Amino acid sequence: MDAGTEKVLILDFGSQYNQLIARRVREIGIYCEVKPFSMAFDEITSFGPLAIILSGGPSSVYDEKSPKIDPRLFSMGVPVLGICYGAQLMAYTLGGKVVPADSLANREYGRTETEFDTGSALFRNITPRSITWMSHGDSVERIPDGFKAIAHSAGCPFAGFEDTKRNFYAVQFHPEVKHSEKGFEILRTFLIDIAGAKAQWSMANYKQTAIDSIRSKVGDGKALLALSGGVDSSVAAALMSQAIGEKLTCVFVDHGLMRKDEGDQVEEIFSHYPVRFIRVNAQKLFLEKLAGVSEPEHKRKIIGEEFIRVFEKEAKKIGKVDFLVQGTIYPDVIESGLGSNAAVIKSHHNVGGLPDYVDFKEIIEPLRFLFKDEVRQLGRELGLPEYLVSRQPFPGPGLAIRVIGDITEEKLAVLREADWIFRTEIENAKVTDANQYFAVLTNTRSVGVMGDGRTYEYTLALRCVSTTDFMTATFTRIPYEVLEKVSHRIVNEVPHINRVVYDITAKPPATVEWE
Ligand code: XMP
Repeated sequence: MDAGTEKVLILDFGSQYNQLIARRVREIGIYCEVKPFSMAFDEITSFGPLAIILSGGPSSVYDEKSPKIDPRLFSMGVPVLGICYGAQLMAYTLGGKVVPADSLANREYGRTETEFDTGSALFRNITPRSITWMSHGDSVERIPDGFKAIAHSAGCPFAGFEDTKRNFYAVQFHPEVKHSEKGFEILRTFLIDIAGAKAQWSMANYKQTAIDSIRSKVGDGKALLALSGGVDSSVAAALMSQAIGEKLTCVFVDHGLMRKDEGDQVEEIFSHYPVRFIRVNAQKLFLEKLAGVSEPEHKRKIIGEEFIRVFEKEAKKIGKVDFLVQGTIYPDVIESGLGSNAAVIKSHHNVGGLPDYVDFKEIIEPLRFLFKDEVRQLGRELGLPEYLVSRQPFPGPGLAIRVIGDITEEKLAVLREADWIFRTEIENAKVTDANQYFAVLTNTRSVGVMGDGRTYEYTLALRCVSTTDFMTATFTRIPYEVLEKVSHRIVNEVPHINRVVYDITAKPPATVEWE
């Protein structure tokens, strides 16, 4: 999907930071894509990049098996910025020398005092000294002919070098990482001042380009989408509906494991869209399948399989479709290794997977090039309500993995009410850094006293975490007054709960969800 003519190409050599480079380029207002370093030269030319960025990576350029690039890239007349491994590769390819850092000085890792030549093209907009983020085992010992050294640190004589005649620039540190104090400014200088980008990429024009391209792809065909009510599938549905209207059928399988009122909200929104909207009320079916099951992975498996079965059954009624729409977003594309040399870090545990028996010709992924916050922005642009686009992550198996042990309709109802109170209070109190928050119904019962009577009821756990990537997390420091109010409301308003606890464990060693 094309988003205007101005595009930056990021060639990926396996750095864990390559998504961040793409984020920054888009923050500057330029569309970009991350592609594997092995992208064929003629593909690169037909991509037509305004500028090319070579990412970092874990290899050593002098290692025979390390990833290399077609040297013709340096004769395209396109500005190139090399970052870390990309800088070393540029030096190596153009006749410089790269050696293990130990042989020069110390290896550098982390925040590093760096000095810049502010008379250089790349560093013209920054101060002469600032902190950069270094992470390298190799260093450039000799820069190629035509280059000039423009930055150094204690351990790195060539922390930056440039050849302004040919428009090649290189930095040993990572400007894309926030710890590099002037990193954003450096990237901006490269893209705007040097490469001459106009930086007019915006969600409004992305939306229009996406709609046009979906229209021309789908033509008179029919498309089918499994709507879960989460941010991604909802935005995909809204976008597709603006593009192709009734040629799109949305199937919403309500497994009865969503939070309070969510199923009805999904129906309320999408039944007014000019699409064919089908809600399958499968609550009973899922509860039957889950009856007596308490092992978390078993629950996930049942829900995943059943979800596909129900969806397939619905799809069969519709018959042959041309396209199956998926809400895949850009981090999934990069992380699943399609565009990357990096190790797979996150295992995806989404409900679903691909249905085997749905009759379709092709998959269409309208959000494939967007980051999560861009998906939310697109959702707003498409007029979806704020509560939907700003929704926190919610696991596919839903409340099934938040009712510890076996699941019953009654337990789900209790959890739904308590969870709703907790979420409302966190939102009302505007607790900062609360990135995911929910209630968990434990299967522990304890003794309490209410009025004059003894009670023997469930313990409810509250979970609220602060995190950026959900791979590590800390518990959120919720003010005591807020916790007190939540606890008070829950035990008074929700039957069968007489005790509320707050989970104060980090991830690791715990996980975000209890199951
Ligand atoms: P954990 O519990 O692994 O959660 O620390 C990390 C993030 O992943 C979400 N999560 C899931 N999402 N299906 C999903 O779609 C699942 O089975 C699942 N399990 C956990 C969790 O909510 C958190 O955001």
